Amino acid sequence: MIAIKELITIDKTSDTAIYLQVSNAIIHNIRRGSLRRGLKLPGSRELAGILQVHRKTMLAAYGELLAQGWIEMIPRKGTFVVKDLPEIKPTRIKNVEPLAKYPVKTIFSIDEKRFAPFGPSNFPPPGKLVINDGFPDVRLAPSEFYIRELRSVAKQGAFKKYNMYGSAKGALYLRETLSSFLSDTRGLPISAENILITKGAQMGIYLAAHLLIKPGDNVIVGEPSYFAANITFQQAGAILNRVPVDEYGIDVDKIEAICKKKKIRLLYVIPHHHHPTTVTLIPERRIRLLELAANYKFAIIEDDYDYDFHYTSNPVLPMASLDNHGNVIYIGTLSKTLVPATRVGFMVAPENFINTVSHLRRTIDWQGDSMMEVAIAGLYRNGTIERHIKKVVKLYHERRDHFCALLKEKMGSHISFKIPDGGMSVWTKFNKVDLKLVAERAAKKGLLMSDGRIYNTNAEYNASRLGFASLNLKEQDKAIEILSTCM
Ligand SMILES: Cc1ncc(COP(=O)(O)O)c(C=O)c1O
Repeated sequence: MIAIKELITIDKTSDTAIYLQVSNAIIHNIRRGSLRRGLKLPGSRELAGILQVHRKTMLAAYGELLAQGWIEMIPRKGTFVVKDLPEIKPTRIKNVEPLAKYPVKTIFSIDEKRFAPFGPSNFPPPGKLVINDGFPDVRLAPSEFYIRELRSVAKQGAFKKYNMYGSAKGALYLRETLSSFLSDTRGLPISAENILITKGAQMGIYLAAHLLIKPGDNVIVGEPSYFAANITFQQAGAILNRVPVDEYGIDVDKIEAICKKKKIRLLYVIPHHHHPTTVTLIPERRIRLLELAANYKFAIIEDDYDYDFHYTSNPVLPMASLDNHGNVIYIGTLSKTLVPATRVGFMVAPENFINTVSHLRRTIDWQGDSMMEVAIAGLYRNGTIERHIKKVVKLYHERRDHFCALLKEKMGSHISFKIPDGGMSVWTKFNKVDLKLVAERAAKKGLLMSDGRIYNTNAEYNASRLGFASLNLKEQDKAIEILSTCM
């Protein structure tokens, strides 16, 4: 008699269903030989009694083993471990020793400098006190609704088609949903054919850059600007023309002066809340930019990564909503709306651009995760996303005000900043104190923050984006208390 009870441990607190725990344990024991080939196993009723599980659970476990080919049921005889195990054993190549250790380096050279690391080198694990770059509070994500939606679309026959390879532009259901959402809320008179679903805004920037830029092309970016976009353009071979960003946004006179001197292929702007300084580009400059783009026939990437988060007044509609000539490639994302790990973003542009960029996208990745895209569309359609935005905007508004009051009260003349109209961070310049040292001191006291070096170009800013959105008021008190002692 086999001591099967000792071979199978059930953890009722585990997320894995009990029938799977039982079948996995049986497979494990067959593999290691504790349950030998051809062995007769107890019947499902008897084994359910031994393991103290429901008979239906045991039937499901045996059903699983049967489906995977580990056991066979012979009528009137019983249940047996199969004689020929359903495992394919790889054949060793004769006279070749298997590797003892994997090579550390390639024998051929690679351009490690061209693809150097950028951005935060490591994202701290949850539970640490962190002033981040301006990320959402992931604890507030409507995860339950998302899982429910995913489960529901997985069950519905109508969505089964999304299990197969599909369009490189993304699930039609999401593109249709987004086209009406963006037309209602952001004044973009578009259809699904104007949309490409991406894995976040960064993929949109990458695709647009690689479609547009040939080595030596001139691209205009703000100074300072979003470091990841700068790197992406440079990798594509662009020459960056850096134009100052003041309190009204990017300086349009300077852009015009450059256009008069050289052919500009692309302008990258973040009009809503410029990264990193968070300023909003004023309407007059937006209109002039569009006129310049039409006259000089350059493309504009409008990166609108945090449109939903505006606290002071109604947000200005995207430049894309005024684009008569087909200059603007509008990029958005759900990274801030939901959580950064939801890798869903979108690109809006004239149809010919979307068609061509979708062919480029296909060379990186055939398509996005359709089931996820359809579930996200469900969240738009059942109002979850809108409700979530309303809820967090209210909360982040309160957090912004508390954070800025704390900065003023506790940090005084050590820093200068302007209260941002929106977004999730405060662009903070450190006066007289070296931010790198401050960040090092803070880390020793348990507070992690950027030392601001990622924002430096030729200019050194000694400044950083201090993110307020992911810290509740108590956490903010604690963080700023620590920071104030590091000056
Ligand atoms: C200005 C800007 N653009 C794009 C992105 C990238 O967003 P995603 O996570 O959707 O790739 C970020 C991320 O913070 C950003 O700040």
